[in-house]
Amino acid sequence: MAPHPGGLTGTRRGPAVRAEGLVRTYAGRRVLDGLDLTLAPGEFAALVGRSGSGKSTLLRALAGIDHGIPASGALSAPHDVSVVFQDARLLPWRRVLDNVVLGLTGPDAAERGRTALAEVGLGGRERAWPTELSGGEQQRVALARSLVRDPELLLADEPFGALDALTRIRMHALLRRLWDRHQPAVLLVTHDVDEAIALADRVLVLEEGRIAADLPVTLPTPRTPGGHAYAQLRAKLLALLGVTDDPAGAPDAPATPGDPT
Ligand SMILES: Nc1ncnc2c1ncn2[C@@H]1O[C@H](COP(=O)(O)OP(=O)(O)OP(=O)(O)O)[C@@H](O)[C@H]1O
Ligand SMILES: [Mg+2]
Repeated sequence: MAPHPGGLTGTRRGPAVRAEGLVRTYAGRRVLDGLDLTLAPGEFAALVGRSGSGKSTLLRALAGIDHGIPASGALSAPHDVSVVFQDARLLPWRRVLDNVVLGLTGPDAAERGRTALAEVGLGGRERAWPTELSGGEQQRVALARSLVRDPELLLADEPFGALDALTRIRMHALLRRLWDRHQPAVLLVTHDVDEAIALADRVLVLEEGRIAADLPVTLPTPRTPGGHAYAQLRAKLLALLGVTDDPAGAPDAPATPGDPT
């Protein structure tokens, strides 16, 4: 099916995502203003940008969950899309396994759900209620719920923003492992430049409704802060985000690790 203006069409071949001249308007303001973006199948990209720059708006557009907003441009994305948000959004009245397989059909649904839970380290917690889990565990359930569907595209909107620094580091390793195994294209929104560098192979900067910078991350994994190349990339990204080393010059600085705002 060919892409059509403002709408979402499914792709099975070619790029996982292609957006051309994407426009989304709120209250007369073009939050996305002629945005172009291509993501290859299996590519892991991070999206950074100032608060209010339109990151979540772009994710909602790619997920096809932004009906009713004035829109134009062409957008094609896979039918099999999963979205993970900052809060796990589990149904409290359903047990963990039921949350994971919600909406999944087929005789092997429960088995797939159990496998997915084991993959995120929650084997044995199938019958727990969401309220019995920690924030990090709930987020792991949300990841299992996303990946049990083997999506072609995983959209994550600050999925680790509410977690403590240590849990976040563990989640980074887990997400990278899951990506390695399942190979969806990933677009990860984050405020955290170090998280973007640690996880993604490409970092996109959203500014004034467009992708203002598109930087490849070629550092070997696992990527931990340190070294000249890391520092250079980090400094470049922070500069693009309008953040300097002088905190007084950065009124809306994106968070760095330990400051998950
Ligand atoms: N439903 C809505 N109605 C009106 N304006 C909206 C709506 N959703 C978003 N906006 C506006 O669009 C702009 C972009 O919002 P968006 O949530 O995409 O930003 P963001 O980059 O995700 O920000 P943050 O980093 O704070 O999450 C903001 O100015 C916001 O006020
Ligand atoms: Mg947002």
